[in-house]
Amino acid sequence: MDSNHGWPEPIIRVQSLSESGTETIPTRYIKPPSDRPSIEASSYTLSIPVIDLSAMSKEEMASVVSAACREWGFFQVVNHGVRPELVRHGQEIWRGFFHLPMEEKQRYANSPTTYEGYGSRLGVEKGASLDWGDYYFLHVLPSCLKSHEKWPALPPDLRDITDEYSRELLNLCGRVMEAMSIGLGLDPTRLQESFGGTEVGACLRVNYYPKCPQPELTLGLSSHSDPGGMTVLLVDNHVRGLQVRKGSDWVTVEPIRDAFILNVGDQIQSLFPFCQVLSNAIYKSVEHRVMVNAANERLSMAFFYNPKADLPLSPIRELITPDRPALYKPMSFNEYRLCIRQRGPRGKSQVESLKTSQ
Ligand code: OGA
Ligand code: NI
Repeated sequence: MDSNHGWPEPIIRVQSLSESGTETIPTRYIKPPSDRPSIEASSYTLSIPVIDLSAMSKEEMASVVSAACREWGFFQVVNHGVRPELVRHGQEIWRGFFHLPMEEKQRYANSPTTYEGYGSRLGVEKGASLDWGDYYFLHVLPSCLKSHEKWPALPPDLRDITDEYSRELLNLCGRVMEAMSIGLGLDPTRLQESFGGTEVGACLRVNYYPKCPQPELTLGLSSHSDPGGMTVLLVDNHVRGLQVRKGSDWVTVEPIRDAFILNVGDQIQSLFPFCQVLSNAIYKSVEHRVMVNAANERLSMAFFYNPKADLPLSPIRELITPDRPALYKPMSFNEYRLCIRQRGPRGKSQVESLKTSQ
């Protein structure tokens, strides 16, 4: 029996390292100087757009969402229709999970085959650089992949609350997909259909970033773009951490209570085959990363809305013209995800490698 659950070396929980009281982090977590967080250098004057969804017509929503997706690939939504009590309850219940005794969490230790369960690394390369965070990953859709058995049994309401939370977020994703379609001059259902209609996938990764004694040397999550379709992220109200790439700058996102941060993933970007030609004409999957800190732990919930996993995603034909030829090979999300799971977070190298040589 493989005592490492398929990982190339024994898994060390970042929470255990943090709680050991060590004043220096192991070298495996120390990033090269060029990758270290630079809070001073990050721009305080810029911020990702904030969109208030209350009292907005479909057309207005389409226009602001689409502008944000072109310019930033990221935006926050407030008054989004998901009850604040549910949002807060979700956060608290998952915080409760990470505060359970280690033996309880270890029952769900994950493996790199499906990543479902309690994990502490992405990628299987032996000796690879590690990030300062633990996580829990689970499937919400399709129903054949969803299994409550693989979700934590404790705290007692976790499964029900996570189900309710997921239903609400699927709803929100549907509305945003529609806005994104309209904003491109397409039929409102066009993007959803290219994702497989009602057969979309969804999963949740709850990230837990323990306090870190040397936050200036490491990252909670290295720079990456999200491999899926679209991400709805809920972050800690009080603790900053997320940084979004803007040109050569990293912009720190200011948390807003009960808001969601939405971002475009690689699967949406790959529907826009001509991205390198007209950089402002497409929805971009933008790099982001997470800083940790010495004073506070941080919890975030990333809900990934994905295309049907075995559907080869083709560029939206209506958008291809002779001077904007297709630049990506059709690939299914399953094939794409397999590459990511082997390599771990690596900036935008994955989506770049899909380009056909021409
Ligand atoms: C992610 C992610 C950001 C955060 O899980 O893909 O980017 O703030 N998380 O934890
Ligand atoms: Ni991400």
